[in-house]
Amino acid sequence: MSAPKVSIQNLSVTFASRGGPVEALAEASMHAADGELVCIVGPSGCGKTTMLRVLAGLQDATHGSAFIRDDGSKRPLKGMVFQGAGLFPWMTVAQNVAYGLQMQGLPQAQRQPIAEHWIGAIGLERFANAYPAQLSGGMQQRVGLARAFAYNPQVLLMDEPFGALDAQTRVLLQQVLLQQVEREARTVLFVTHSIEEALTIGDRVLVMSARPGRMLAEFAVPFARPRDAIALRGDPQFGALVSEIWAVLRGEVVGNA
Ligand SMILES: Nc1ncnc2c1ncn2[C@@H]1O[C@H](COP(=O)(O)OP(=O)(O)O)[C@@H](O)[C@H]1O
Ligand SMILES: [Mg+2]
Repeated sequence: MSAPKVSIQNLSVTFASRGGPVEALAEASMHAADGELVCIVGPSGCGKTTMLRVLAGLQDATHGSAFIRDDGSKRPLKGMVFQGAGLFPWMTVAQNVAYGLQMQGLPQAQRQPIAEHWIGAIGLERFANAYPAQLSGGMQQRVGLARAFAYNPQVLLMDEPFGALDAQTRVLLQQVLLQQVEREARTVLFVTHSIEEALTIGDRVLVMSARPGRMLAEFAVPFARPRDAIALRGDPQFGALVSEIWAVLRGEVVGNA
């Protein structure tokens, strides 16, 4: 096996707080292969966001390591997508999508066709010159996806990007994400609190323990690609896996409540 694209080894993060130290992660380890889409589920507060923040370079590890192997290409190493699209309200859709490219120093003449391509891919051509406030939450989230794809990092870190959406919009955006990752292999770490979502989009699902978080179990997702988010729900194997993963997670959520 070639060296993993992402590797986290015995990662511990302890925060100082007024009530004393808070151990967010304890000896968490995981890896992702190049082009693999790994989903991470775990109870609220188990350190999922903290783990992504360490990978993104926004948070220091207390012990252990988190590493992304650089392929030496011109692509930026990592990009993070948070819950809520995090768009700049004073920029149009097109400007938001092109923002990361601008930061990379790409001239306008090169940014524009890339932005247009991704705005088309998410079906918002008619809104390229609209401002975020003129869009629904689901449309804003789609723009957030287009921005991440346009930025085209080697590793995409996604922290519950669809968590705030209604069920129907969420499934539509899962389809958009599926289409894009299946067209072009991308390494993605995707945190979600939805087991269904993890099984719909992931190659592998990791289940974390209650805080302090560590990896409890791992499930290979058996569904062939390309996948259809809606058709998958009717697959008996899908329901069986949801139950199996929930059985692992339930102990952590109940024990923690
Ligand atoms: N900057 C911080 N200072 C103190 N405690 C924090 C900080 N960030 C996160 N925590 C705590 O660490 C734990 C893990 O948080 P987080 O990574 O956000 O969990 P999750 O994303 O799994 O819900 C929680 O108990 C949270 O309150
Ligand atoms: Mg979180």
